[in-house]
Amino acid sequence: MHKILSKKQLSAGVYEMTVEAPLIARARKAGQFVIVQIDTDWGERIPLTIADADEGAGTITMVFQAVGATTHKLAVKETGDSVENILGPLGNPTHIEKFGSVICVGGGIGVAPLFPIVQAMKGAGNRVTVITGARNRELVIFEDRMRRYADELVVVTDDGSFGRKALVTEPLREYCAADPKPGMAVAIGPPIMMKFCTKTAAEFNVPIMVSLNTIMIDGTGMCGGCRVNVGGVTKFVCVDGPEFDGHLVDFENMMLRMRAFKEREEADHHNCHIGLGLTPHEIPAGR
Ligand code: FAD
Ligand code: FES
Ligand code: MG
Repeated sequence: MHKILSKKQLSAGVYEMTVEAPLIARARKAGQFVIVQIDTDWGERIPLTIADADEGAGTITMVFQAVGATTHKLAVKETGDSVENILGPLGNPTHIEKFGSVICVGGGIGVAPLFPIVQAMKGAGNRVTVITGARNRELVIFEDRMRRYADELVVVTDDGSFGRKALVTEPLREYCAADPKPGMAVAIGPPIMMKFCTKTAAEFNVPIMVSLNTIMIDGTGMCGGCRVNVGGVTKFVCVDGPEFDGHLVDFENMMLRMRAFKEREEADHHNCHIGLGLTPHEIPAGR
């Protein structure tokens, strides 16, 4: 059981939740994630990035967008309630080194998982430029937090209601074209955004790391649900990633695989039963 110590709404449908998880708080590093199971009877397992942690207080913070059944269930939990299972930290930590200048790009909810990477890149002595993108002003998150660590922050919105009216690739292109060019770029967001950030970085020979958000079930490399093609080799995002060299990722294949369960996910109250150890005929009606 993991007690919820605080919950706040950051923007439309986006919540920040701090929970008790002392062992995870002590061990986690930038770039790692947890698998959350709200209730162990029928609960789906969903991966969420550790957006922040407080080792002293024994807490981790997750930022999530309510997009489907499980994230909506989590969104109605309140301070004082509990989450049954949190597994982690999972995945490999971000490769942090002194690259000189680093451009960190976050799109939508991807801005939250970018935050610990921005902190760590800054801590390693890099000059860090952060570009965050949202559809509109209501969806802009983490502006103050990013400003505290970034040497420069560029906020863009699709409709121009806040910051610059642009897609994240526009300022990214300008920074990649600068002399000297960045030593490293990092992009986290929807797959299509990471694909175009990678294309932009490729035009200027800038290395780029992307954090992939494939479907995950066990999170331990056994189910194969998160498999992706990286440089012609099959990789599992949960144990080999979640971060990879963007220039080697087959984004088309990844996006195709992520669409595979779209109909089932869009059905009302869809609850994935994979990993619960049940055969289809053992699942009660309505579950
Ligand atoms: P559903 O209606 O079931 O699905 C909505 C969409 O979420 C789907 O179309 C699919 O693209 C995705 N999804 C569904 N089930 C899974 C699953 N088991 N694994 C992965 N994706 C799934 N989201 C955040 O809001 N904040 C985060 O910090 C965050 N970090 C992530 C880190 C990793 C390593 C990965 C792989 C994903 C992360 N996600 C994060 C995405 C998050 O896991 C999904 O939004 C969530 O699982 C949706 O579940 P649902 O039941 O509410 O929605
Ligand atoms: Fe099962 Fe990665 S989630 S192998
Ligand atoms: Mg779901």
